Amino acid sequence: MGGVAVRSNILAILRQAQGEYISGEELSRQLGVSRTAIWKHMHALKEEGYQIVSHSRRGYLLEAISEFLLPAEIKHNLATTCLGQEVQWFEQLDSTNNEAKKLAAAGAPEGTVVIAEEQLGGRGRIARGWFSPKSKGIWFSLILRPKFPPYEASKCTLMAAVAVAKAIRAETGVNCGIKWPNDILYQGKKLVGILTEMSAEMDAVNYIVIGCGINVNIAADEFPPELADAAVALASVASNTISRTSLLQRILCEMESCYQEVLQGGFAGVLAAWKALSVTLGQDVEVIGLDRHFSGRAIDLDEQGSLLVQTAERLETVVAGDVSIRPRHSKFGKYA
Ligand code: BTN
Repeated sequence: MGGVAVRSNILAILRQAQGEYISGEELSRQLGVSRTAIWKHMHALKEEGYQIVSHSRRGYLLEAISEFLLPAEIKHNLATTCLGQEVQWFEQLDSTNNEAKKLAAAGAPEGTVVIAEEQLGGRGRIARGWFSPKSKGIWFSLILRPKFPPYEASKCTLMAAVAVAKAIRAETGVNCGIKWPNDILYQGKKLVGILTEMSAEMDAVNYIVIGCGINVNIAADEFPPELADAAVALASVASNTISRTSLLQRILCEMESCYQEVLQGGFAGVLAAWKALSVTLGQDVEVIGLDRHFSGRAIDLDEQGSLLVQTAERLETVVAGDVSIRPRHSKFGKYA
C-alpha cells in the first residue's frame, strides 16, 4: 500500500471512530504497517492541516479535518463515477491549467482534477491573469477526453458554466448568472472565471482542460485595486458559511451529469439551462473580437453555443471574443 493510500485509510478509521481514540497498535494491525510508520503518517497528516490529538496511552483522535482542499476530503462521499476520482493537490502552483495540461499530455485519465491552494501565475481568458490567493478560493482544473470532434469543444465551455452556476445556487443560495460564454456573475460582478483549453488533431480531441477559479473567501478590500469594482467573493454575498470541499463536490456532480448528457448527444438540456441562467441574452452588448468591434443586442445562442448578436445591419455570430454588457440596458445597471 502506498503512502497516500495508508493515510486515506488512517483517516477513514479515525473518522469511523467518531471522536473516540484509536490506538497506534490497532491502526498498525488493521493496516499491516509498523507503529513507526503510523506515527510518520500521523505527522504527515498534521502537516496537511488535520487536527489529530496524540495521546501516549490512548492513541490518536481526529479533532478536525483540514482546511485545505485535500484529495481525501474531496473523494470522501463524492457521488461521481469519474470526475474527481483522481485528484492531484498542490499547496502552490503557477497555474492548475498548466499542470493539468502536463498531466493530460502524460496520459492522466479523464476526470482528473488538479487543485492548488494558491496560484502564482493564474491565467485568465484573453491573456489576462487570475488573482488566486492562498486558500481563499477554489482554483482547479479538470481533464476531459470527449470523443467528439474539436469544433464541438465549445459545448464543454457552456456546460462548465451551467454546472458551476447550478452548484453555487444549490450550495449557497446565491443567485448568480452566466455572462457569455462562461463568466459567472453576481449583480454584475465576477464570482467565477472559466478558462477552457484544448489539445486536438483535425478530427479528434486529445484532451480538454477546464480551469475554474471561484472567489470564495476574498474580502472586498483584499482584491487588487483594478479588480475592486469588478470582482466579488461568495462569502461576501452568501448568507451561509461556505465549505470549499462540498461546493467542489457538488460542482463535480453537476458537471458529470451535464457531461454525460452532452456525450450522449443531448446538448439541448445544457443549452436551455444556459439560457435560463444567462444575464447576456436580451441585453445590448459590445463585442470586442480579434479583428472586429461592434455593438448590438444579444438575442440567442446557436446550437454550438455561439452568441447571436443583432446589429443595426445584420445578425452576427460571435464564436470567441470579449462581450461587455452595456450599462444603460444591463439587468443590473453595472458594466459587466
Ligand atoms: C477568466 O475569466 O478570464 C478565466 C479565469 C480562469 C481562472 C482559473 S483558476 C484555475 C485555472 N488555472 C488557471 O491558471 N486559470 C484557471
